[in-house]
Amino acid sequence: MNSLTHQLSFCITYLILFASSPGFGSNICTSRGVSTCKQCLAVHASCAWCFQEDFGQGTASLSRCDRRENLVAAGCRANALEFPSSRLQVNEDLPLSDRASTAAADVTQIRPQKLQITLRPGDSQHFTVKVRQVEDYPVDLYYLMDLSYSMKDDLARLRSLGNDLALAMGHTTSNLRMGFGAFVDKPMSPYMYISPKEAVENPCLSIHTTCLPQFGYKHVLSLTEQVSRFTEEVKKQRVSRNRDAPEGGFDAIIQAAVCKEKIGWRQGASHLLVFTTDAKTHVALDGRLAGIVQPNDGRCHMGNDNNYNMSTTLDYPSLALITEKMSENNINLIFAVTNHVVPLYQNYSELIPGTTVGTLSDDSGNVIQLILDAYAKIRSKVELELLDVPEELSLSFNATCLNGEVIPGIRSCSGLKIGDTVSFSVEARARSCPTDMRKTFTIKPVGFKDALQITVDFECDCKCQAQAQESSPACNQGNGTYQCGICLCHPGRLGPRCECAEGDYSPAEQDHCNASPSAPVCSSRGDCVCGQCVCHSSDFGRVWGKLCECDDFNCLRYKGELCSGHGKCSCGFCQCDADWKGENCNCSTRTDTCMSSLGLLCSGRGQCLCGSCDCTQPGAYGATCDKCPTCPDACTLKKECVECKHFKRGKLLDEGTCGRICRDEIELVEDLVFHDKNAVNCTYKDENDCVERFQYYEDASGKSILFVVKEPDCPKGPDILVVLLSVAGAILFLGLAALLVWKLLVTIHDRREFAKFEEERSRAKWDAGNNPLYKGATSTFTNVTYRGKD
Ligand SMILES: *[C@@H]1O[C@H](CO)[C@@H](O)[C@H](O)[C@H]1NC(C)=O
Ligand SMILES: *[C@@H]1O[C@H](CO)[C@@H](O)[C@H](O)[C@H]1NC(C)=O
Ligand SMILES: *[C@@H]1O[C@H](CO)[C@@H](O)[C@H](O)[C@H]1NC(C)=O
Ligand SMILES: *[C@@H]1O[C@H](CO)[C@@H](O)[C@H](O)[C@H]1NC(C)=O
Ligand SMILES: *[C@@H]1O[C@H](CO)[C@@H](O)[C@H](O)[C@H]1NC(C)=O
Ligand SMILES: *[C@@H]1O[C@H](CO)[C@@H](O)[C@H](O)[C@H]1NC(C)=O
Repeated sequence: MNSLTHQLSFCITYLILFASSPGFGSNICTSRGVSTCKQCLAVHASCAWCFQEDFGQGTASLSRCDRRENLVAAGCRANALEFPSSRLQVNEDLPLSDRASTAAADVTQIRPQKLQITLRPGDSQHFTVKVRQVEDYPVDLYYLMDLSYSMKDDLARLRSLGNDLALAMGHTTSNLRMGFGAFVDKPMSPYMYISPKEAVENPCLSIHTTCLPQFGYKHVLSLTEQVSRFTEEVKKQRVSRNRDAPEGGFDAIIQAAVCKEKIGWRQGASHLLVFTTDAKTHVALDGRLAGIVQPNDGRCHMGNDNNYNMSTTLDYPSLALITEKMSENNINLIFAVTNHVVPLYQNYSELIPGTTVGTLSDDSGNVIQLILDAYAKIRSKVELELLDVPEELSLSFNATCLNGEVIPGIRSCSGLKIGDTVSFSVEARARSCPTDMRKTFTIKPVGFKDALQITVDFECDCKCQAQAQESSPACNQGNGTYQCGICLCHPGRLGPRCECAEGDYSPAEQDHCNASPSAPVCSSRGDCVCGQCVCHSSDFGRVWGKLCECDDFNCLRYKGELCSGHGKCSCGFCQCDADWKGENCNCSTRTDTCMSSLGLLCSGRGQCLCGSCDCTQPGAYGATCDKCPTCPDACTLKKECVECKHFKRGKLLDEGTCGRICRDEIELVEDLVFHDKNAVNCTYKDENDCVERFQYYEDASGKSILFVVKEPDCPKGPDILVVLLSVAGAILFLGLAALLVWKLLVTIHDRREFAKFEEERSRAKWDAGNNPLYKGATSTFTNVTYRGKD
């Protein structure tokens, strides 16, 4: 009876423990076999450590690392608990500005501005960042021009452009400054003509004109409000000539970006660097042609004469260096390049964030429109860039762009109007512990001066560590360090209180070293010393656990990597990093990789499995199942894009999502032609009842083009004269017809009557001379009283 109650109470205790542990039965805090406070904190954000000295005495199996409530229930005092929690504190939170004020430094375009986050390893914090492009923001525009010989006509054109450009930009900002600089190429062979000797002074000798000696980059006009100065300085410029086809413009880009004082970039202004050229460009390592091996250092080397004075010493800059300097100085680079080099600069632009490419006409005649378009494009997009994010921290984003629609996994919004506010929710998760517990990083919209600065304190250490006692009397008279309630024994000592020496061997104690008498001692991976297993070290990794049953190398592998390289192996199970799941951690939990430009997971034509799309709709393919010319809805979707992009009307335009959803290029054609077997011809009837025809075509690189037939087939309106005449004609005709019918009927009736009369007449049996109708003209009267003569 007594043993029954005992068993019953044991069962109940077990059930309570079972139900209170997370993940139903697996208490992550106790299952890992951690032995120190620091390790305990790293296991999971729900784990706490009890450093009370007498904790768990008498009950050998109690773990000091457990969930907080379990420790308290087991008798740990609240002041002996190590349980740091993650938190977030906003240190600077100025409201967003509406318009740029005169004091540009006061403009705030991102909110908040300073954050402090305290994070435990494995834990995360959420916060929201709001960004707004304010109206009438000051603009600094620096025009960097290729002055090689082929740009002669462009220069002539630019002389008259200055005023118009200022006027056109005046519609977007009331605070514009313009500057000017020019480049050719490094003045040395083989980029330069050096023979005959005179060619150095006049490289145009061989084409029988004169021009300026070749130069690398020269800064001409610092940013100024006086537009007339721009025109004036541009008028003074003359072209030069170099020998090889590519130019040295990238040298100029770096100098224009980093020589801040010389150029005069303002702190609180949009910085536009317009780079015009009609040729390819030299990039890093091309300097070797001239024997230059010193890499570009990305610093300003501009002498008093405003010339780049290290042109012949330093190599051309790399794209990475340009990217870094553009971001550092908040510069939006605009490549205004002629048609045949557009694809090349487009490729560069993809590698340098915040860059746009425009097609320059042969004489630069369209440069104003190009700059306006590029500026509008820059201002219609907000993209967050991350600077110096510690590798121990993982950040994920959800964007709320327009209409409050949340787009997961994205940190940019496009298709915005000036004044629109967008917000991004951010999750910061500490993956592990860095060596330096305080890190600072920055989140910044590309091309903005404003930034959000975040300080992260990693809570990896226990405060009780500070009170550690070395060679403490509590650890068997100085045989170990007492720290956070436990003894860390000196080498060669063992036991909870370091009471054993490794050399002592006591067979009686072996009972504690195997799970059952028949099981191997310490799982055959350790020695039983002093009643405890001392696990062997292994070449593969660490072996631990009470019976040496755990290690960190026996876990599932995928493609040869332990836990697919996305997790830690712990005691036979993979503990996946953030963003990964699955037994072997090979399945990404991210969905942003499945997000199509429409903001639909796998374009609604498939499922997102482990971070990549499994297209279920027949015919759909592509990373986000976005390509599907044969899908029934291809025409329906693209129809909206034709409506908003070409006709500037329709649902998407009203919603303002046209720019984001429709990445297609529109090309007007006379008639549809055959492009590819995957192209589809679509027709639809628009609001004017016209039949629009277009073809949806995607080339090999995934660029989608909509060929729209210029002239829609509209129903022809009726001609008014024709209508009048035909109505009149119809009335006349009907009248005539009625008359004719009447006449016909009368005639027929007459004929019939006549026929009947004739017939009757022919049937008459009397003599024609004795017409019964005839009455004689004489009348006979009888006189009653007359008796005659006799
Ligand atoms: C180049 O310009 C820098 C100023 O940016 C100056 O310190 C340096 O002396 C100049 N070097 C030469 C060779 O003129
Ligand atoms: C641009 O990049 C694409 C794809 O990477 C490549 O096929 C193309 O040749 C590049 N164009 C130029 C002009 O380099
Ligand atoms: C983004 O949204 C998803 C659900 O749509 C949510 O699970 C996730 O926590 C969000 N992330 C952030 C950083 O807000
Ligand atoms: C360690 O323990 C042994 C035996 O219990 C004892 O003799 C010795 O004094 C202790 N202290 C140090 C510092 O070794
Ligand atoms: C993950 O690994 C399992 C087992 O090896 C495999 O079947 C599955 O295809 C893998 N998944 C991915 C997304 O690689
Ligand atoms: C689209 O129409 C054009 C012109 O009528 C034709 O040449 C082409 O084959 C059609 N394409 C498809 C995919 O039907």
